[in-house]
Amino acid sequence: MTQAILEDARRRVDAALDRLLPSPSEPCARLHEAMRYSALSPGKRLRPALALAACRAFGGDEKACLEPAAALEMVHAYSLIHDDLPAMDDDDLRRGRPTSHVVYGEAMAILAGDALHTLACEVLATWPHGNGQLVARARVQRHVLEAIGWRGMVGGQALDMELTGKGGAASEEEVRGIHLRKTGALIRAALLLGSEIGGAHADQVEAMGRFGDVVGLAFQVVDDVLDVTADAATLGKSQGKDAKAAKVTYPAVLGLEGARARARDLTEAALRELAALRFPEGGDPSQLEALTRFILERQS
Ligand code: IPE
Ligand code: IPE
Ligand code: MG
Ligand code: MG
Ligand code: MG
Repeated sequence: MTQAILEDARRRVDAALDRLLPSPSEPCARLHEAMRYSALSPGKRLRPALALAACRAFGGDEKACLEPAAALEMVHAYSLIHDDLPAMDDDDLRRGRPTSHVVYGEAMAILAGDALHTLACEVLATWPHGNGQLVARARVQRHVLEAIGWRGMVGGQALDMELTGKGGAASEEEVRGIHLRKTGALIRAALLLGSEIGGAHADQVEAMGRFGDVVGLAFQVVDDVLDVTADAATLGKSQGKDAKAAKVTYPAVLGLEGARARARDLTEAALRELAALRFPEGGDPSQLEALTRFILERQS
């Protein structure tokens, strides 16, 4: 079931991305090509899938979600391009392909990331076309923008870089703080975006935020575990680099078994949050539940 959910989200979101991204032509074909190379490369499209599933859980029209969900994927792609840069994690493999800076050079990779970030904001500023949902638009913008700047993704990446080298000497509180920001915040924003567009009430959006924090944290704990246990071919990215760089990760702080146990506990906690949520008649939260389990069980 989960594979079908992800496949469906990928097909629909990739069509939206293809429409929204600049065509690979003048005035700067290489920039456009680099943007498309990263945004359309074969990732899981998990954030858009979560947004669509949240919208569905509240009985909303998933079609209304597609462009904002594509904007989330642009932000994600930009964060990966920058995360892989020599100045950050210095990775040359991403989604089974050479990283952006390996193909296009560092300057163009930085600029492709910048342009994806800006295009995402532009999409969020102009969607929906017409004035039908201006309140939802403003709320969605706020959720996403709060999640991706200093409070969220960029702040978390900055903490990650500052503490690189500290490894297992860090506390669980420190690693939790990094992970909630660098990864959890965008996943939480995906869920809030889908909920808002789905028509959730303020208290339901708040509850989805609690669910999003837990599931977002679980996602990054599993990412850390896979960096230890998976192989590069399955991951489509380099393996074992966190330990080499003495990154502050859950396996470094809690040990591999401790990190696995934490991921399981967080997933259970997320499922409890979900079960406590009251979805409207006609809403279907089963996809959210399936994606939550997938986040724990995934192999890449
Ligand atoms: C990888 O995210 C980067 C992190 C935030 C840990 P994903 O595992 O969702 O990457 P893709 O999109 O499937 O490549
Ligand atoms: C990256 O975390 C988080 C963001 C891109 C915001 P990681 O550095 O662990 O991601 P991977 O393992 O390279 O995908
Ligand atoms: Mg990193
Ligand atoms: Mg990295
Ligand atoms: Mg990682």
